[in-house]
Amino acid sequence: MAILKLARMGHPVLKRTADAIDDPTAPEIRRLIADMVDTLADASGVGLAAPQVHVPKRLVIFHIPESRAREALDDDMEEGEDEEDEEDDEENGNGDAVPMTVLINPEIEALSDETVIGVEGCLSLPDMIGRVPRFRHIRYKALTPDGSNIEREVSGFHARVVQHECDHLEGILYPMRMEDLSTLGYVDEMGRSELPLGERIRERKKAADND
Ligand code: NI
Repeated sequence: MAILKLARMGHPVLKRTADAIDDPTAPEIRRLIADMVDTLADASGVGLAAPQVHVPKRLVIFHIPESRAREALDDDMEEGEDEEDEEDDEENGNGDAVPMTVLINPEIEALSDETVIGVEGCLSLPDMIGRVPRFRHIRYKALTPDGSNIEREVSGFHARVVQHECDHLEGILYPMRMEDLSTLGYVDEMGRSELPLGERIRERKKAADND
């Protein structure tokens, strides 16, 4: 196991299109996945793409812990949504935790034009967050580490995380998807009323620092 060094915005590996993986079961891919899982846990993140650890291959990992799933549902509700949308999200399993998932050579298809704005951060832009529009409903297909196929239709935060991670494989970072760059900023500088998620991240950091 190893904690890998994270590439930050500006590094060339984050700007290029990542290469397809020929053999998902290859030993070096298994090692890469294990190291990425360790690295993600160490950074307390929800998702990580191989280019972020300087490996330009089409592989992403993510998980949604129970706490983040519930929080994300609230955040997505903040603007432009009504109760009916929230009920829809809950019916679709949005707000549910997702165990650690590995996607190899993933492909995403938007299932409608509908987008939703939510708060995102990225381990390649440490301590920053911004509001990013994403498709609400997507279908994604990928290979798993044992070489089988995975196909899921998802919505809300799950769909957001997958879109964010797969963008890394195309050299796209979340600020490049933002419509209003005035909402991009350092977590520590943002007020509670402005960005509730930012406040919670800050509080988590404070709690972690006090450990
Ligand atoms: Ni990211």
